[in-house]
Amino acid sequence: MTNRLSCALAALLLFACGAKHEHVAEHPASAPAAHGHGHGHGHGHDDPEALRKLMGAMLVDMVQVRGGIANGDLTTAARHASAVAKACEHSGPPPADTKAYGERFAEFDRTLHASAAKLAGQAEAGDGDGAKKTYEAVISACVGCHGQAPLAMEVDLSALQEPL
Ligand code: HEC
Repeated sequence: MTNRLSCALAALLLFACGAKHEHVAEHPASAPAAHGHGHGHGHGHDDPEALRKLMGAMLVDMVQVRGGIANGDLTTAARHASAVAKACEHSGPPPADTKAYGERFAEFDRTLHASAAKLAGQAEAGDGDGAKKTYEAVISACVGCHGQAPLAMEVDLSALQEPL
């Protein structure tokens, strides 16, 4: 039941996000030349398309984390929380374009990594209450970064913010 809801939620959110791609294309997002981080290393914060893919994947992972916690399936929650933690670990330096990505991008990136890793540990240890609390910290990192990044301000994560 809850799983079916989670899928619908993910589809809805992805649909909402898809709608803003055109808008995003108007911003020649990062300015890679300025700081010497070229294109083409496949993933990273300075590659706008890779960043969006990573975000989409994190959304799906967080829907799974949420569902796992809600259903008492902490193994699933742990697996997906650790995917989120690893996603930021491998994402390279913050984008140089602070007008689009915000001044505090790196800070929220670190907070997200730390809280997702903590959640994974708690879920692995079977601490559902702890995982539930940390879930909120993870979502505040998502929402915090989006709130300071003009490019991300319209991303709607409200479904993930509903009380668990
Ligand atoms: C460090 C900053 C930062 C953090 C933390 C962050 N985001 Fe994002 N997110 C962004 C930026 C910037 C964009 C806009 C990217 C673009 O449009 O080029 C974005 C876009 C998105 C999108 C839209 C992607 C698309 O296809 O247009 C989704 C969905 C998303 N984020 C989900 C999440 C979730 C879920 C979390 C937490 C697990 C999260 N984000 C954490 C910065 C962040």
